[in-house]
Amino acid sequence: MLSLGALVSGCGDGIISAPVQVLDVVPAPFRLDPATVPELAPIGGRTVVVSGTSAPVLVERVGSAQFRALSLVCPHRGTIVEVASSGLRCPNHQAVFANDGTWLSGQPTAGLTPLDVRRNSDGSLMIGGTLTPPVLSLNRSAVVFLTTLTGTAPAAQTVAIGNDGGGMLGDLALALTYGPGQRTGWLSLALSQASAPAILTLSAQRGTLPIGVYSATVTITGAGVSNGAQTLSVSLLVQDPTTPAALQLSSSSVAFTAPIGGTPAAQVVQCNNSGGGALAGLAATIDYIAGGRGWLTATLNQTTAPAALTVRPSAGTLAAGSYSATVTISANGVASRTITVTLTVTAVGLLVTLAAWPALANVGGVAGSVGNVNGGPVAVTRLSATSFAAFSMRCPHAGTTINVVNNGTSFRCPNHGALFNSAGVWQSSPQRAENLVPLTVTYTPGATTLSVT
Ligand code: FES
Repeated sequence: MLSLGALVSGCGDGIISAPVQVLDVVPAPFRLDPATVPELAPIGGRTVVVSGTSAPVLVERVGSAQFRALSLVCPHRGTIVEVASSGLRCPNHQAVFANDGTWLSGQPTAGLTPLDVRRNSDGSLMIGGTLTPPVLSLNRSAVVFLTTLTGTAPAAQTVAIGNDGGGMLGDLALALTYGPGQRTGWLSLALSQASAPAILTLSAQRGTLPIGVYSATVTITGAGVSNGAQTLSVSLLVQDPTTPAALQLSSSSVAFTAPIGGTPAAQVVQCNNSGGGALAGLAATIDYIAGGRGWLTATLNQTTAPAALTVRPSAGTLAAGSYSATVTISANGVASRTITVTLTVTAVGLLVTLAAWPALANVGGVAGSVGNVNGGPVAVTRLSATSFAAFSMRCPHAGTTINVVNNGTSFRCPNHGALFNSAGVWQSSPQRAENLVPLTVTYTPGATTLSVT
């Protein structure tokens, strides 16, 4: 049973909610069609929903197709937070929260609990359950355009951008870089919309490019994704149909780093025909050079060029060390080409699964006590879309375990009150303290885990 605006008091003071008895902080998912709620029509529009026996939920439109949901249960003592035009305030001990649920002032406490919001195919929403960060997905990792000196412009191609995780994926953005030292300007991009699902359309124009292979990389980013930026490899082959076929690879080496037992993100090598005619019979064989065997797979998506070779290592049970192999690509009637693959397996550290720590979905997010290294608890901070830092949570002053405070923006030692910012830098305390001890983070952009040693 759903009730909308059930907490509207209409007392004229801007407050639209009042305390009620709370049963469930995180409600079971319920359906809400925003098209039937006039308050949700404009961006910034909000409404309060009560579903079944759950606590009230604040739903807000934060973009043309994006919504945010927060449980209105105060994390301090469970009182229902009031929703006012100026913000969110707990009437019990006066904790104040920003519209996104971040604690601002008053009684120190955590932020309001964000709830998962997913869009159904009919435009309605499923709200409820613990928020999991979005995962940026592409339905292909490479695009190849073929043309000749006299041919017409190749047809445009599309890539579907989706969200394989939770919540809503917005703020999609593109960055385009061309191969080092190569001619530029031959590729144009168009994004259907800034939130997933979206379609990226790529168009290539030969212009005055001579015969050759031209490459570019499109980097796609989205707000709060747990898997970081994703890349799309783009090639333009300008061919002379009168010359024989020739095998060309987009890369002659690939390198991976993984903790023991980890599986780094796969990499794709494009196998192209840089000559004329057709190039068929593509096959891939693996030869292990140094270290163990059986840690690599190499899979072609088709046997005619252009083809995509997916190279995927698995550290499995490999011991720490360096491993290498070659992948030989052969094809009918042309010289083979090889790719050198190296895998560096790092010593056992703390393996952190990003999806288990929603705070790490956002740049600046801090997750405390994610596990232990050297017998002490560890905090991890997301520095950028592709990098993290980690610290020991032992206070450098007297070794007391510090706490994450101020809604994840800093750390405080409960012993003598030393305060550190999210970068681990000492800020203040009665006794001068050193900065938090940094730890080593190993992370491959796009991977779902990181390792702390
Ligand atoms: S219950 Fe909300 S501030 Fe204490």
